[in-house]
Amino acid sequence: MTPITPYPITPWRTVPKDIPRPDYVGGSGPAPYGGPHVQSVETIEKMRIAGRIAAQAMRAAAEAIAPGVTTDEIDRVGHEFLLDHHAYPSTLGYRGFPKSLCTSVNEVICHGIPDTRPLEDGDIVKIDLTAYVDGVHGDNCATYFCGEVDQEAVRLTEVTHEAMMRGIRAVKPGRQVNVIGRVIEKYAARFGYSSVRDYTGHGVHTAFHSGLVIPHYDEPSFDTVIERGMTFTVEPMITTGGYGWQQWDDGWTVVTADGSRCAQFEHTIVVTDSGAEILTVP
Ligand code: MF3
Ligand code: CO
Ligand code: CO
Repeated sequence: MTPITPYPITPWRTVPKDIPRPDYVGGSGPAPYGGPHVQSVETIEKMRIAGRIAAQAMRAAAEAIAPGVTTDEIDRVGHEFLLDHHAYPSTLGYRGFPKSLCTSVNEVICHGIPDTRPLEDGDIVKIDLTAYVDGVHGDNCATYFCGEVDQEAVRLTEVTHEAMMRGIRAVKPGRQVNVIGRVIEKYAARFGYSSVRDYTGHGVHTAFHSGLVIPHYDEPSFDTVIERGMTFTVEPMITTGGYGWQQWDDGWTVVTADGSRCAQFEHTIVVTDSGAEILTVP
């Protein structure tokens, strides 16, 4: 499999002035979030809408995946879907990120910038898309196949989806967030796979990344107690090799250190009385 290399990036896509944008856009980064992890009923209701639009936009963008199509074209489709639904693409202008979603192909772990590389038959493509609607974010990611992929890619993708679902099903009020990482890492290890440690799930609501960390590996020191009304992501990145990583000179693209392939899925969830409800559903 040929390693992924950087390709030229197209100019910024514009967003009409009448679509409200997060306050970090145009600045160097968001103001630190100092509010609670538990969200109001009103915020959660808004997040259902943001989550639905994020899921629908991701599905629309994924329909464009085919051999020969550039990741920039996938970005264009996701961008236009969001604008058509009066949503702002949360990544566009987030700490200087130049595109409306992330496309991370094969050994790219996360934060790939959509560019003019044409997708190849056999690529696995992660689309990570976040919608900002009515003051809140809905964040989701999934792994898709370009054309015919090999058996290892199919299994890696299935295992990663199941790992995310097991992490979500482990969510219960009264438990510590480290339970999520424990079940994810242990499930990946059954297949000889590794769960990436240095990129994590996060609190998400009025803030894109609230500061609450949701680990995808077994680390007891992440001991925040889960409470009803908390909203956060579960977004494991699982590789067929190790969890080491390197970053490209673009300051964003994260690749596996050993060149092994990586799959990822992500949902935004809200904690209920008995478990978790997924908000990023189409
Ligand atoms: N959506 C990503 C996440 O799951 C964040 C992407 S930030 C970007 O947290 F700047 F890289 F786009
Ligand atoms: Co995301
Ligand atoms: Co996220």
